[in-house]
Amino acid sequence: MVILLSHQLSLACIALAAASLVSAAEFAFTEPKLNTTYHPGDTVNIQWHDYDGTKPTASLWLGTGQRALHWHPYKIIANLTEPFPTSYTWSIPKNFKKQRYYLVITNETPYQPKSDYFFVA
Ligand SMILES: *[C@@H]1O[C@H](CO)[C@@H](O)[C@H](O)[C@H]1NC(C)=O
Ligand SMILES: *[C@@H]1O[C@H](CO)[C@@H](O)[C@H](O)[C@H]1NC(C)=O
Repeated sequence: MVILLSHQLSLACIALAAASLVSAAEFAFTEPKLNTTYHPGDTVNIQWHDYDGTKPTASLWLGTGQRALHWHPYKIIANLTEPFPTSYTWSIPKNFKKQRYYLVITNETPYQPKSDYFFVA
């Protein structure tokens, strides 16, 4: 009986945790497109769909290396707060490192939608 109870409890916890983690998964980037090349000094019009709309806060990051679960944060671009935007205009600094990047929206949950790779060259 005790074992059954604790099993049910842990299931409830998993369900609760899953529900509270959903939000960031409901973003989907539409810009920049795969392999777009920008240059230092360019303006990037970053865009995404937001399928939920109500959120607390989240941050827009640049990642480098592999666009994987354990991605490498390179630089924070913006902290996003309500009313939640679906775009952000980012000016690439003049001396910005030339390499491949992707964008990540994260509210520090495991669900961290990522854009396609793009280049600063
Ligand atoms: C994007 O760029 C990578 C690396 O340069 C290349 O391997 C890949 O084929 C490109 N994909 C598309 C769809 O252009
Ligand atoms: C975002 O918020 C964090 C934590 O409050 C802060 O350290 C960081 O400087 C902020 N970044 C930007 C780009 O606003």
